[in-house]
Amino acid sequence: MSNMILEANGLVKKFGNFVAVNDVSFTMREGEVFGLLGPNGAGKSTTISMLTCLYPPNEGDMRIFGHDVVKDAAKVKKLIGVVPQDIALYPTLSARDNLSFFGEMYGLKGRDLKERVETVIDYVAMRERAKDAIKTYSGGMKRRINLAAGLVHGPKLLFLDEPTVGVDPQSRNHIFESVERLNKEQGMAILYTTHYMEEAERLCDRVGIIDRGKIIAMDTPKNLVGMLGGGIIQIGLEREDEELRKAVTSLSEVRSADFVPQEETEEGMSTKAMLKVEARTHANDALVQLIQLFNKKDVQILSLETLEPNLETVFLHLTGKSLRQ
Ligand SMILES: Nc1ncnc2c1ncn2[C@@H]1O[C@H](COP(=O)(O)OP(=O)(O)OP(=O)(O)O)[C@@H](O)[C@H]1O
Ligand SMILES: [Mg+2]
Repeated sequence: MSNMILEANGLVKKFGNFVAVNDVSFTMREGEVFGLLGPNGAGKSTTISMLTCLYPPNEGDMRIFGHDVVKDAAKVKKLIGVVPQDIALYPTLSARDNLSFFGEMYGLKGRDLKERVETVIDYVAMRERAKDAIKTYSGGMKRRINLAAGLVHGPKLLFLDEPTVGVDPQSRNHIFESVERLNKEQGMAILYTTHYMEEAERLCDRVGIIDRGKIIAMDTPKNLVGMLGGGIIQIGLEREDEELRKAVTSLSEVRSADFVPQEETEEGMSTKAMLKVEARTHANDALVQLIQLFNKKDVQILSLETLEPNLETVFLHLTGKSLRQ
């Protein structure tokens, strides 16, 4: 287990009878950016809370840099940095004083502390505003200082919980660039949670897709997207027709075709039947064949939607719902 820096095995967390995290296992290697991608309430923050010693799991075990996270919490805490989803800064203190406070909590003192504080201020490009009280900052600026607070003691593994939610594009870019630099220049390993699939695709070496407390797929973004072949075409039809489905499945550009359950909208069912077609290589090639087939069979198409092969579509494919519902 030489270069495994994080091992999570069968983590379960219950709140009363509710199972928020249900048998989550994954590992991280040295220098890796691992993403947990999932919708609201999937269990991302709960997983991070257990890994960062906030509370223990009901079941399962975790090792970080070889230390048991529950039994050796003090050792683990020194090696990890945590940037929580909610801003955890003192609004009346300046950014610099906030960062000094966090540094002191980690045992930094004197010149060392001062230097670290100035280094992380530069890291998030906030030197000009560092003397101002946090309450005068924009949301994006607060997020950047929140990130700096997680870095002040020089952790080897950083937990970033949805660091870009509600952030303006400029700060979002800053956060992205900081994360990329930390990883590339310092080899810092990063666990990054998000429900934005573009972020996971851009930043992460590997992604675990999490839904309702379970990791339902885990691989590189490229391999996950590769699961979809050429993308997905959803076709609304008058009725479910098994003969037609078989004919569609046998088209050379089609990998699979299934009728999927319909979500009820306020106006009732939007269409009567929905055929989900996975394209083999390119959605457009499959589309040409599908239209020819439907014309020949005189089948009326009520609606048609082509979904790009990306992580959002992977999620939809696996769960039948969108990441941002
Ligand atoms: N302290 C708690 N007490 C009771 N239920 C909780 C607690 N913390 C989390 N939950 C529940 O556990 C589930 C997972 O929550 P969690 O915060 O881990 O989700 P998340 O993936 O981080 O979502 P989001 O993207 O909205 O931050 C949710 O249904 C949430 O309501
Ligand atoms: Mg969360």
